[in-house]
Formats: sequence, C-alpha cells, structure tokens
Amino acid sequence: MPRTNPGPPAPAAVLCGLGGWVPPRVVTNDELAARLDTDDTWIRTRTGIRTRHVAEPGQATSDLAVEAGRLALRSAGGVSADAVIVTTTTPDRPCPATAPVVASRLGLAGAAAFDIGAVCTGFVYGLATAAGLITSGVAERVLLIGADTYSTIVDPLDRTNAIIFGDGAGAVVLRAGDPDEPGAVGHFELGSDGAHEDLITVAAGGSRRRATAVETTHAERHFAMRGKEVYRHAVTRMAASARTTLDQAGWKIGDVDHFVPHQANLRILHSVADELGLPRERCVANVDTVGNTGAASIPLALADAVGRQHISVGDRLLLTAFGGGLTWGSCLLTWPELADPPQPERTTP
Ligand code: UT7
Repeated sequence: MPRTNPGPPAPAAVLCGLGGWVPPRVVTNDELAARLDTDDTWIRTRTGIRTRHVAEPGQATSDLAVEAGRLALRSAGGVSADAVIVTTTTPDRPCPATAPVVASRLGLAGAAAFDIGAVCTGFVYGLATAAGLITSGVAERVLLIGADTYSTIVDPLDRTNAIIFGDGAGAVVLRAGDPDEPGAVGHFELGSDGAHEDLITVAAGGSRRRATAVETTHAERHFAMRGKEVYRHAVTRMAASARTTLDQAGWKIGDVDHFVPHQANLRILHSVADELGLPRERCVANVDTVGNTGAASIPLALADAVGRQHISVGDRLLLTAFGGGLTWGSCLLTWPELADPPQPERTTP
C-alpha cells in the first residue's frame, strides 16, 4: 500500500560543535629513548610520531572528556545536550559508565548518558549512534566525546606500544537538522570481525580473565597488540570501508577534500590514501604531535585541522577508522559553519 501521508521528513543529525583537548604534559621520543631500547629515528620513520601527550597520575579519562566536551558545547554556541555519549577503551572504572559522570560535571545531569566501546573505531560508531538518537526523535542534541588515556593500560616498559599511544579527548555536538545542510552526517559504513579479537587486547580484567584472579600475569593486565598483522588489516579494512561509503553516496575519490582517518600511524594513513588513489596532502594528520589517541583521534585531528584553518566551511570530508575487535567504519559530511570554531591554543595547551 502506498503511503498517502508520510508526514514530515525525519530529521538529520547535523554537526554543530567541535572541541579537542590533550593533557599538558608532552613526552618526546628522546624521553622515551632514555628509558626504553629505542630511538627517535626508529620511532619517526616507523610511525611518524614525534611527541605524545600523557595524563598526570590520577587524571582519568572523564577529566579529559569533560575538557573536550566543554569546548565542543562552547563551539556550538554555548548550547546544552539531552544525550551524552562517551566512547573509550579506558573508562574511569568498569562500572558505572564514564558518560553519566561527564554529563553531570558538564551541568547536563538528567541527560541520557552511556559509553560505547569499539576501541579506535569508537568515534565513528558513536557518530552513527548519535545520529540514530536524533533521527529517531529520542534526542534533539547529542554531545559525543571520544576520550582515552592509553597511558593507564600500556606497559611503560613495552617499547612497541609505549611509543605509539598518547592520551587525549575530542568531542562534537550534533543537533537535529536538515539532511541537505552542511554538517549533516551520513552515509555510514560500520563493520567488525571478532575472529581477530586477539590482535589488539587487554586480556585480563573482564569476565573471561577476571581481575580478581590471582594468576593473571603482568602482560595480561596490559594492552597488547600484534603490530604487523594489525598494520595489514588496518590498511585493507580502512580502504575497503572508505570505498564502500563513497560508492553508497555516489562520491568519487576526487570529491573528497579531506580524508580524516583514525591517527594510527603515519605510514598506515599514507598507505590507505595510496590505496584509494587520494593525494597524501588530502590526508589530515596530527599523529606526529599527539600519537595514537584511540577513540579521541578523529575529533582531535578535526579540531587541530579546523583550528589551523586547514579545513574550511563547505569542504567535503571522509572519516574512516579502524581498531580492536576488529572494528572499522566510515562516514561522510560537508564541513559546516560553527558558532565558535576551535582555536589552536585550546586544542594543544
Ligand atoms: O589503533 C590501532 C592501530 N594500531 C596500529 O596502528 C599499529 C600498527 N602497527 C604498527 O604501527 C607497526 O607494526 C609498529 C610501529 C608497531 C611496528 O613497526 P614494524 O615496522 O611493523 O616493526 P616490526 O614489528 O616488524 O619490528 C621490527 C623490529 C623488531 O626487531 P627484530 O625482530 O627485527 O630484531 C622489533 O623488535 O623493530 C623492533 N622494534 C623496535 N625497535 C626500536 C619494535 N619496537 C621498537 C621500538 N624501537 N620502539
């Protein structure tokens, strides 16, 4: 039966605020080389990373998330939100979720608040979830924060991971709007392959290997990654996800002004750009200064690029992420005018 009265069109989720925050303490490659069997040249040539920011002892993921969330709400014009999502691999505690604490500290008590775990793909999964809340009419305005303090789960003596990861938070505000206006998020492509759960893992501390079990080892309690395999998966999965999303939307690779990938490693980002036939200059990268910040990496890269005026209103963006799970995902949007765009000094103190 044809629908005779379809009613008003469903609203779209429109990005209207952006903020990024990293803790002030900077750790250089030389500082790491003083305590690990590594050196600045190895780190720069293998990863493109020169520095990363690290939280102070006692500084938790929610502390970073609150800073980024506050900046995002300010950038949207000092608005409120009726839902708060935090996506993280390093929640303050296993229970409760981090988002209610963050919402309360931002003066948003009463808002729906929950966490999403999709490791480094969390921000793109979070965007899709936030969009769903808005298009279904459950929320009018959503604050989405990607925040991670990897320094709390990486063994500081593990030279492979200690050089890669940094701490940080990035946030966006999404509001109900029109599908055709700049900032409307979509098309999305999300995927996972749990057969590779062991490639990126913290083995102990959950219900499978309980934190209370006396026999858990030091290694099981820390972040572990099979770097070479992850590298290969990251390149092929990110390229495939990006292509699928572009095809769904009818975009050609030449339509993409800026490719904003999860900041895993500069070589990975450039390999994905090469696979896609995208000039490397269109790849937004700040991994050199902040390292891999997990769920925070895409909004932090966005805040950095918008703050430097590298991304302008009307530019067409492809966001693509990859992470543990394995998980991956992509999303397209046209960059909108923000009431109060991020400034560089607010992103990197
Ligand atoms: O957000 C999730 C995304 N994850 C990632 O982005 C990580 C993806 N993987 C990578 O980025 C790379 O695999 C790494 C940067 C982790 C490692 O680079 P690689 O070129 O794949 O090096 P490798 O693992 O093949 O190691 C080469 C050598 C090894 O020594 P041998 O076995 O050849 O003697 C390592 O032990 O480099 C050694 N090595 C190091 N040397 C100096 C490993 N880490 C270091 C280090 N400094 N920090």
